[in-house]
Amino acid sequence: MTVFKQRVFSGVQPSGNLTLGNYLGAIKNWVGLQDTYETIFCVVDLHAITTWQDPDILRNATREVAAGMIASGVDPKKSIIFNQSQVSAHAELAWIFNCVARMGWLNRMTQFKEKAGKNRERASVGLYVYPDLMAADILAYQATHVPVGADQKQHLELTRDIAQKFNSDYKVDFFPEVEPLIFGEATRVMSLRDGNAKMSKSDPSENSRINLTDDRDLIAKKIRKARTDSEPLPATMDDLDGRAEAKNLINIFAALSDRKAGEVCAEYEGKGFADFKRDLADLSVEVLGPITEEMSRLMSEKTYLDDILRDGVHKADELSQPILRQIHDIVGFLRP
Ligand code: TYM
Repeated sequence: MTVFKQRVFSGVQPSGNLTLGNYLGAIKNWVGLQDTYETIFCVVDLHAITTWQDPDILRNATREVAAGMIASGVDPKKSIIFNQSQVSAHAELAWIFNCVARMGWLNRMTQFKEKAGKNRERASVGLYVYPDLMAADILAYQATHVPVGADQKQHLELTRDIAQKFNSDYKVDFFPEVEPLIFGEATRVMSLRDGNAKMSKSDPSENSRINLTDDRDLIAKKIRKARTDSEPLPATMDDLDGRAEAKNLINIFAALSDRKAGEVCAEYEGKGFADFKRDLADLSVEVLGPITEEMSRLMSEKTYLDDILRDGVHKADELSQPILRQIHDIVGFLRP
């Protein structure tokens, strides 16, 4: 059995604002991994264009996601930060994986079904093979661990299937079995307007999400306006069954304060949402305020951000090119 170097890879799409979901489900968790693992964090612009992106907005959003990562504590001295389109191994390996993955596997992907909606015939082919590119992102570095929110679990299972099929088709032990890292109290942050829908940058309602570009007043206002019910809070999370909005706000509170949801719930037992939402608004502003402000400061330093991304591209290329060459040899591509 090959022993693979412990390496973390994850990515975020520059397809709209970063949300509290991106922060609590993914980016916040990345920060703590930087001291234990070799870490690679990618702004996945190739994935973003699977749905239409205005070119100027895409350029700006790419810098914004990089700024958001750095403002949240991803340290360019410890981690590689870069944008996907500039490292050719991603697109090249994705093609090979298009030939490894089976149509039946992709047909099962729930994210494709959700995003394509009823009009599948009009969805881009890129949206359909999106998970193959994601597998390429990870496996181009032979990464072993992938910290993501719960919504990416199915894609990571597909990544494992692709790795396994490649290894078995070519009788090699080349790709590792990727381990998803889905942890924290907010692995699935829900909409502030509907506790049964995921908080998402594509939701038409601005009040459904907190953006990392929102200022302190707007953050507090959105929390105050969040949908709740009229019952007081119970003693335990189990007693919150059927109260999706309440559960979501407690999970957000717990994740922002690095506490357990059960502990937060017990603290507010018997209290109504007026008290709880006031405290949650204060906490959100205290934690997110400095991040959103640093992000906006970084956005005025475009050269600094571009230098970081360029350096990241160079390092990512250095890691992925030798791996890609080995893949070419395994597959039988002549390297004259
Ligand atoms: P994306 O851009 O939709 O989201 C980036 C990360 O944020 C997490 N996330 C959430 N977590 C909890 N609650 C939410 N409401 C929420 N919304 C988003 C996502 O789980 C993700 O971790 N396909 C990926 C990007 C990607 C990738 C990769 C990730 C491309 N290649 C390789 C890992 C490894 C995506 O669309 O993420």
